[in-house]
Amino acid sequence: MGRVKQSELNIGMVGHVDHGKTSLTKLLTGVWTDTHSEELKRGITIRLGYADCEIRKCPKCPEPEAYTVEKVCPRCGAKTKLLRKVSFVDAPGHETLMATMLSGASLMDGAILVIAANEECPQPQTKEHLMALDVLGIKNIVIVQNKIDLVNEEKARENYEQIKKFIEGTIAEDAPIIPLSAHHGANVDVLLNAIQDLIPTPKRDPSLPARMYVARSFDVNKPGCEIKELKGGVIGGSIIQGVLEVGKEIEIRPGLKVTEGNKTYWEPIITKITSLRAGNLNVKKAYPGGLVGVGTELDPALTKADALSGSVAGEPGTLPETLDRITIDVHLLERVVGTKEEIKIEPLRTNEVLMINVGTATTVGVILSARDNVADIKLKLPVCAERGARVALSRRINARWRLIGYGIIQ
Ligand code: GTP
Ligand code: MG
Ligand code: MG
Repeated sequence: MGRVKQSELNIGMVGHVDHGKTSLTKLLTGVWTDTHSEELKRGITIRLGYADCEIRKCPKCPEPEAYTVEKVCPRCGAKTKLLRKVSFVDAPGHETLMATMLSGASLMDGAILVIAANEECPQPQTKEHLMALDVLGIKNIVIVQNKIDLVNEEKARENYEQIKKFIEGTIAEDAPIIPLSAHHGANVDVLLNAIQDLIPTPKRDPSLPARMYVARSFDVNKPGCEIKELKGGVIGGSIIQGVLEVGKEIEIRPGLKVTEGNKTYWEPIITKITSLRAGNLNVKKAYPGGLVGVGTELDPALTKADALSGSVAGEPGTLPETLDRITIDVHLLERVVGTKEEIKIEPLRTNEVLMINVGTATTVGVILSARDNVADIKLKLPVCAERGARVALSRRINARWRLIGYGIIQ
């Protein structure tokens, strides 16, 4: 069997709360990714959502109208051709959920910044999410001006100008701004065209050792099931390099916490891959792009309730070290952007506690020393990360973690 059509890349849906990220994901993929009971109750996204879509093109229609997600061209009825399968990572916009947004951002190859046309631009998390993309080096950005159905033409133009002014001098400066209504679907062709042109699939090297960022982990067994039917623990995330294969061994770090007397350390887990799911397909091999579910021989007690989220998994013996202390070069922003009033960011202080995001991992760290833009940080939970990795730094401001800059691990 040849390569199964797995999605090739992850595109983030980012932006301020309620601006329509989940609605736009639904419009493009047919999937409503808010499924958790708490999400349905509160009407906000809490966890990262994932959904796949096929970008297709009609061979007969002109551009941009030729772009569609349908197998049959809605304009002329011709059979459309598959260009790319892509995955959307739907991030939460609520200001208290920046850690989740940041761990999602570590999986994004590009992003759609969703901005509602019926509110002043920028809103705090419009700015903070764009800053997060900047901090994590995500440069391929398309802007959607959403909820265009709620404003008249004059308001829409005014808002468009606000967006233009806001992105001036940022990494999104040259991003197209596509007016759209996630409820009505006009201009989806223009959006798909822009995604094709501006968010290319990164070059992948399949010969690199496999590595995956773990975003979720599960126990997939129903309560009370027979021991002989018990399925091993499942981890979910995105492959960032290489290829995972059923039957091969996989290492997971940091792994298990071991306490011996008054000493604690983390022991990497080694297990075997028993099954792989990419999107909704069972596959023998899985590649970078999209959400991949990895079935293992692990005791499901180890993987239940996201216990392994934030880990790194990959070919045994090739993973970076597990670090419980890091030294970073510090790059602070000038102002806090995620709050209504933009406070100046003071330098890091010794003994200060920061939230640290590395890959999909979220931890807190105490600053042991901070001098001349270099900081030594003791981590509460260790992370598996290599030299040169970027870490996002957040500080507690008004009882909320706010992004204040980034560091590079020395
Ligand atoms: P969070 O994930 O919580 O940050 O929100 P979100 O950005 O995912 O927004 P969501 O898609 O949940 O939409 C928020 C509200 O706006 C819902 O009531 C949607 O029905 C509504 N909405 C989204 N897009 C549109 C649109 O294009 N037009 C109109 N009229 N309403 C929209
Ligand atoms: Mg949402
Ligand atoms: Mg919502």
